[in-house]
Amino acid sequence: MDTQTFSRRNQWIAILDYGSQYTQLIARRIREQEVYSEIVHCDTTAAELAANPPAGIILSGGPNSVFEEGAPTCDPALFDMGIPVLGICYGMQLMSHKLGGRVVPGVEREYGKMPIEVLPGNPLFKGIPGTITVWMSHGDRVEAIPASFERGAVSATCPFAAMFDNARRFYALQFHPEVVHTQYGTDILKNFVFGICGCRKDWKLTTWVEDTVARMREQIRNDEVVLGLSGGVDSSVVAVLLNKAIGRRLHCIFVDNGLLRWREAEQVEEMFRKNLGLDLTVVRAADRFYAALKGVDEPEAKRKIIGKLFIDVFAEEARRFKDCRYLGQGTIYPDVIESRSPRKGPSHTIKSHHNVGGLPPDLKFELVEPLKELFKDEVRAVGRVMGMADELLDRQPFPGPGLGVRILGEVTKEKVELLQQADVRVQEEIRKLPDYKTIWQTFAVLLPVRSVGVMGDQRTYEYTCAIRSVNSIDAMTADWTRIPYETLARMSNRIINEVRGINRVVYDISSKPPATIEWE
Ligand code: XMP
Repeated sequence: MDTQTFSRRNQWIAILDYGSQYTQLIARRIREQEVYSEIVHCDTTAAELAANPPAGIILSGGPNSVFEEGAPTCDPALFDMGIPVLGICYGMQLMSHKLGGRVVPGVEREYGKMPIEVLPGNPLFKGIPGTITVWMSHGDRVEAIPASFERGAVSATCPFAAMFDNARRFYALQFHPEVVHTQYGTDILKNFVFGICGCRKDWKLTTWVEDTVARMREQIRNDEVVLGLSGGVDSSVVAVLLNKAIGRRLHCIFVDNGLLRWREAEQVEEMFRKNLGLDLTVVRAADRFYAALKGVDEPEAKRKIIGKLFIDVFAEEARRFKDCRYLGQGTIYPDVIESRSPRKGPSHTIKSHHNVGGLPPDLKFELVEPLKELFKDEVRAVGRVMGMADELLDRQPFPGPGLGVRILGEVTKEKVELLQQADVRVQEEIRKLPDYKTIWQTFAVLLPVRSVGVMGDQRTYEYTCAIRSVNSIDAMTADWTRIPYETLARMSNRIINEVRGINRVVYDISSKPPATIEWE
């Protein structure tokens, strides 16, 4: 079991994952309180947890019904560990089901905001008003609570919106305290973590940096590490951490695939080689990528070509460091959770995403993944603690295949240059907005559409550029940003007047789904 990668002297809260879309949110809410929490498989046993006992256990929500055949369950011995347990939604039903209560199938799903009346005596609700609005999302409900339990809260439709057994320190909520729509949700979680589990605030990112650097030194010893630097937040933070740990025994490789933003390769060189003194190799492979993409206009074919060539180029370079034992990677916590989700269904490939994929078998590196326990905002905070520039840390996501998926149809060097020029103007203007940091992504797209225009007395026949800007929480869904007209006007004027080859600018007003964020 890979629980508790963080320093063992820290207390932690274990969250057993029953597959709710909010499970990650529970972990984040607790970490925001400076208490470490980790999501573990729902089939984690009491014996496994006992190896490094958590201060509290949370059973998350989930989409199943406890009545379904094969519905996820929990090790009954969890309830004999003497550790406080909080069940949320499915977690409450499971707790009730296991401890002798009665759960009944709901006639219909209860979903949305709901007022509840909070009853006295439940330490989970300490300091919270008698009536609050909470976020419900469940089908089944608890009809009779186990014998030792008391009713904790009630709503018009839910006789047991909460239940508790103070003697054994078991608590359960039918609603989701981790969701912002639940009033006092954070206070409820704080009552559990501090009041009931007795945690101290000791999850500090400054300590994390020191611990991680020490741990990496211990792991790597006198060996060396190769790292693919992409210029994005995660690999940059890994580079700075590894640089702290092992200095010049870190070898960074940056592949300039010719599909980067304007001056990006130069910026990466300046920042990492000049400012930080890292051993950085920039592989100038643009022409190889353009040659491989010649005549190809099908989006998936383009993605595959870019992905494969990237691996080839990276591997060629990494072979120079064949004697290095380790490969550094910027894997972050959501990647880990997604790849091990117990009930991840067979989902359709909408687009094949690529980053550093599988390397050829002759390159057998062991992995160093220092960020694999952190959420994205924690990665940024670590970067800040280490003094990295906001400009780098607040970067918007950028797809692995880069401008290759923002130039519709065939990619050529000329089109890349055209799009880079349009995009840099879009970036400059969007950054002037005070709420720039709240926008998920803003970029330009080059369409394979030419139209007629007029410039001075001249007829023009040039390309069209689309501006795409979206707000999103996790890129799974997105809504187009309501950019002020003034900003759109400046973007459009600047592109049309300053970039030769584009005479028309349009704004993309599609949401995801059904559109995607990138155009290809
Ligand atoms: P879509 O277009 O699928 O994009 O709505 C969702 C998010 O993922 C980014 N994206 C990628 N990121 N490699 C990446 O690392 C890729 O191949 C890739 N393709 C899309 C996209 O920019 C958006 O943030």
